[in-house]
Amino acid sequence: MLSAKSLFQEIVDNDESFRLFCSIAASGESQGGWENARIAALVPESERALAPKITRHGADEDKHGRIFNALLRKRGLEPVEVPPETDYTMLLERQGIGLAHEKLGADQPLTVRDVITYLAHSRVTEQRAAEQMAMLLKHFADHPDLGRAVRMISADEDNHLAYSHEELLRYTAAGHGPYIRRTLRECALAEIRVHRDVSLAVMARMGHLLGWSRARSALLAAGIHATYAWERLAGRRRMATLRPPTPALRDALGGPATPAPEVA
Ligand SMILES: [Fe+2]
Ligand SMILES: [Fe+2]
Repeated sequence: MLSAKSLFQEIVDNDESFRLFCSIAASGESQGGWENARIAALVPESERALAPKITRHGADEDKHGRIFNALLRKRGLEPVEVPPETDYTMLLERQGIGLAHEKLGADQPLTVRDVITYLAHSRVTEQRAAEQMAMLLKHFADHPDLGRAVRMISADEDNHLAYSHEELLRYTAAGHGPYIRRTLRECALAEIRVHRDVSLAVMARMGHLLGWSRARSALLAAGIHATYAWERLAGRRRMATLRPPTPALRDALGGPATPAPEVA
């Protein structure tokens, strides 16, 4: 049987595949944490009011990185090096999506457009993160080791997504609509391609670790290509449109980060 649940169950049950999964996740989260911390530090004077939310966003991502590392430690596993072809954050940056690390490493203040570019990048990548966590939540919310981590990260990613919608709508009202729409479209197109490539690379590694048959690997690859085709045609819209958050998710990053003492 080939379902998302059985696939993840298999990855979670095997030490080597679990180790790779958590290492990739931890590294992506920590990179996100670093990026947001730099963006918060470089926010231009006129956008200072946004800085605490960007800091909170970064603190959440860092916390997620620590949670994935804690899950590894709990099983007595060390993180492994992340294969470059599975490094989603780095591959997106290489495509020119979001803000270049060179810019974030420098000490020049960002422009308003840079801040919007960051928010558009977040709008698209947080959609992916929120959907992936929702899928894990559906199947692993009651898992003895993963449940708590999955519930916490999933709630945070929903907050991040709501926040990027809300702030982009604010910039749209301030007259930045055309730039936002163009950036969201470009970002969504690049993201679905990078997501496909990373999924194929991760599944190839998992297949090797778990000894999957050629037929099983081929079936999974076909599924990834089919998802990509659907996202190109129709699914891209869900990443490039804006809507106000529901009341419960309004000003989602307005307070301090929730600590995760028991998991991290
Ligand atoms: Fe995250
Ligand atoms: Fe996030």
